[in-house]
Amino acid sequence: MLLSSALSSKAIEETGATRRELLLVNPGDGSDLLFELLSTVTEDSRHGTGVVSVLRNVTDLRRASEEIEENYRRLRIAEAQAHAESDRLNLIIDSVADPIVVTDAGGATSLMNEPAERLFTIQQRSSALQERWVQANDAHFTSFIAGMLVSADQRRVGEIGLMDPRTGQAMPVEAIAGKIVSEHGELTAVVTILHDRREAIEKAKLYEQLKQASDELERKIQAATADIAQQNELLRRQAIELEQASELKSQFLANMSHEFRTPLNAMLGYTSMLLQGVAGKIEQPVRRQLGRIESNGRHLLTIINEILDISRIEAGRMPLQVSRFAVPELISEVKAELEPIIMRSKLSVTLDIPKDLKPVVTDRQKVKQIVLNLLSNALKFTHQGGVTISARRNGGERTLILSVADSGIGIAPADQERIFEDFRQLDNSPTRAYGGTGLGLSICRRLAQMLDGRLAVHSQLGKGSTFTLTLPIKGRR
Ligand SMILES: Nc1ncnc2c1ncn2[C@@H]1O[C@H](COP(=O)(O)OP(=O)(O)O)[C@@H](O)[C@H]1O
Ligand SMILES: [Mg+2]
Repeated sequence: MLLSSALSSKAIEETGATRRELLLVNPGDGSDLLFELLSTVTEDSRHGTGVVSVLRNVTDLRRASEEIEENYRRLRIAEAQAHAESDRLNLIIDSVADPIVVTDAGGATSLMNEPAERLFTIQQRSSALQERWVQANDAHFTSFIAGMLVSADQRRVGEIGLMDPRTGQAMPVEAIAGKIVSEHGELTAVVTILHDRREAIEKAKLYEQLKQASDELERKIQAATADIAQQNELLRRQAIELEQASELKSQFLANMSHEFRTPLNAMLGYTSMLLQGVAGKIEQPVRRQLGRIESNGRHLLTIINEILDISRIEAGRMPLQVSRFAVPELISEVKAELEPIIMRSKLSVTLDIPKDLKPVVTDRQKVKQIVLNLLSNALKFTHQGGVTISARRNGGERTLILSVADSGIGIAPADQERIFEDFRQLDNSPTRAYGGTGLGLSICRRLAQMLDGRLAVHSQLGKGSTFTLTLPIKGRR
């Protein structure tokens, strides 16, 4: 039906075509068949006008051409993809700081990034020497790749000794090469990444040095620690020995002072009796000499008393005897005791004590001893002017403030703390001008501490000194 209508001359006239396509059905399997129909109108004088048609099966041809078209389209897409892929690859390769070289199956370089170019290609304005370094690099690399190509390894890691063409410095690199194989199993390329090992080597060296230094330090610390432990042990033993020795010394001094004091007191007693004429009238020259014996004896007694006091304080054998007493009386007593010295010194001793000074509760004997010491120092170290003893109460702090101020030789700032040390005298030369043991102030400060008070000095060299004793007005019993 389809064929006959196609073949009618009317259809040919209508379409005017001489070549057409005709879709028919294969009666065998029902599949589509494409035919090309070529028709020509023929004029014959015998048979009249007719149509000659030739049918050609073009089913396979058409299919083939469609396939070619499809393949061509796919190829274009693949090409575009490959381009994009290669651009991307280039971008990656260029953005990597490590040199990357891509070599083909024959060992020829097909791609390298900028860091690799610097190593393997001769740059503009490079010297002959630099060119030689680049060539040497190239030779090393080529032999590495050649080794890779002949081996069956898919991947190879090795070290290549290159040179930095800019500086000529040795540049050991770690080369990691991998083979790229096509789907048919043939080698298409070798990609090699080079990694500059200088920094890592430098770091490893530094680390090694650091480790050595730290090991050394540790060894030293261990040695020092052991040494310190040994020293400590030694010191501990020495401290025990010293403590024992000091205790023995204090004990000895206390005993000896006592032994000295008894006969000395007897001697002073007899001298004073002689001076009073108990044994008969004495001549003036003898009186003078007896006077010397007495004053020297008293001096010796003070020294012995000081040694005895410090020993007793150190041995912890100086008990507190707290009582309530009036301060002005105590000061008058001190002044009276030192009267002979005051007379001899020709200095004025002034008292500055308010009339209504209330009594205090503390160890009277110890306060007296402190004031006695301070006043005798003031008299000893003052050549002109005078000494003022003052006392007042600080109501807010509930303290008694006693001070002895002189216009004497003064004490340099650097010495103002040292004078409170045991046996410390600022003039300790053999020809020193002032007598004494250097124990007085040390005893005073310790006594003040026993009374919960403090002793301080204010002084100006050449102008004078003021020693101030601060005590709680009601000491603990
Ligand atoms: N009022 C003072 N003026 C100047 N120097 C003083 C005064 N009091 C003490 N010193 C100095 O402090 C030292 C120690 O005094 P001290 O302990 O009483 O010992 P000593 O009176 O036996 O020398 C004295 O040797 C002296 O150098
Ligand atoms: Mg003294």
